[in-house]
Amino acid sequence: MRAVRPFVFICVAACLGCEQESVTAPKSSTAKKTAKGADASEATGVRIQSEPFGETKEGLPITRYLLANDRGMTVSIINYGATVTSIELPDREKKVANVVLGFPTLDGYLGKDPYFGCIVGRYANRIAKGKFTLNGKSYTLAINDGPNHMHGGLKSFSDAVWSARPTEPDPEGKTAGVELMYESRDGEEGYPGTVKTTVVYTLSDANELRIDYRAVSDKPTIINLTSHIYWNLKGAGTGPVFNEVLMLNADKFLPVDGTLIPTGELKPVKGTPMDFTSPKPIGARLNEVDGGGVKGYDHCYVLNPRTDPLKQAAARAEDPESGRILEIFTTEPGIQLYSGNQLTGKPEDGGFKPYSAFCLECQHFPDSPNRPEFPSTVLEPNKPYTQTTIHHFSVK
Ligand code: BGC
Repeated sequence: MRAVRPFVFICVAACLGCEQESVTAPKSSTAKKTAKGADASEATGVRIQSEPFGETKEGLPITRYLLANDRGMTVSIINYGATVTSIELPDREKKVANVVLGFPTLDGYLGKDPYFGCIVGRYANRIAKGKFTLNGKSYTLAINDGPNHMHGGLKSFSDAVWSARPTEPDPEGKTAGVELMYESRDGEEGYPGTVKTTVVYTLSDANELRIDYRAVSDKPTIINLTSHIYWNLKGAGTGPVFNEVLMLNADKFLPVDGTLIPTGELKPVKGTPMDFTSPKPIGARLNEVDGGGVKGYDHCYVLNPRTDPLKQAAARAEDPESGRILEIFTTEPGIQLYSGNQLTGKPEDGGFKPYSAFCLECQHFPDSPNRPEFPSTVLEPNKPYTQTTIHHFSVK
């Protein structure tokens, strides 16, 4: 992934689907006239730039949005799957690396990829046998993971072209963002109801990447959205994440059967290989964990009650070598820890080998529609779905 070039601000774009290279600049930028007479600025504050990122097989143009702040952090997002394709962060020596797995071009995302960086929906994670009952009616969903439904089915939200536009520019230049929208039709992958989903990514000058989700349905349905970013804080492609140190604010996890469907038990982690209540290298006991026939973590943790979930971390990961630290704050009740067990190193996985990244997917519990005792994932027409998840980055 190439570095973001210096920003030249050509025009202010607030239009939906505006395809020319476009940016929004905070008012604090100092504008000067270019040879062509357009305003160009030495950017200060958090900023956004956009550029073409190829076309889908159907010929739909895809745009890449580049968010950048003055601390050397950049986030790149495409409107195919509302996907974060790279996050560049300085380490303690100010050396910049991309810390998320992704593909260099759109082609990789168009194939059967491992959900790199995308928004997964309509229901992230698994639903047993793709079946559930809602208000007395049975529904059958697409089966795409052994006997189960996973990540929204054969065509996930991650395979959709979302409409996108920069958010209103912040006059003080403290944040910049991009808003993405996708309408999932009634009956898509077997789900009832037309669901309109909006996801807003916002980068701040405090090195926070915030994701705000909102979804509304015209009929009762089920929903579970998540961001499927694969993290390697040392840098994507630098090898396994065994030495990266993880803390999860979770005293319990959900044990699963051989097809990764929760058994219904909420099991204490204390003293087991599942225990991340105190910081521990991801690889310390990974070999003792069965992640559905392969070694590694692929489990949902039950987050401890937090009085202010956007101030008390749900998870913290640190790479001792680079000093990079990621803290996650979320309104969701669960977090799926996936240690990249299924990555193969093949081109469709971007060449990334098993364990070369970890996912921390903030979400509701898997198979909730079949588990009345789990927090509800029912979306009623009169009550929108909302979620906020914040990623805070620092160095030590
Ligand atoms: C799932 C894994 C799956 C991966 C990629 C994760 O969210 O829990 O089982 O292999 O996504 O599809």
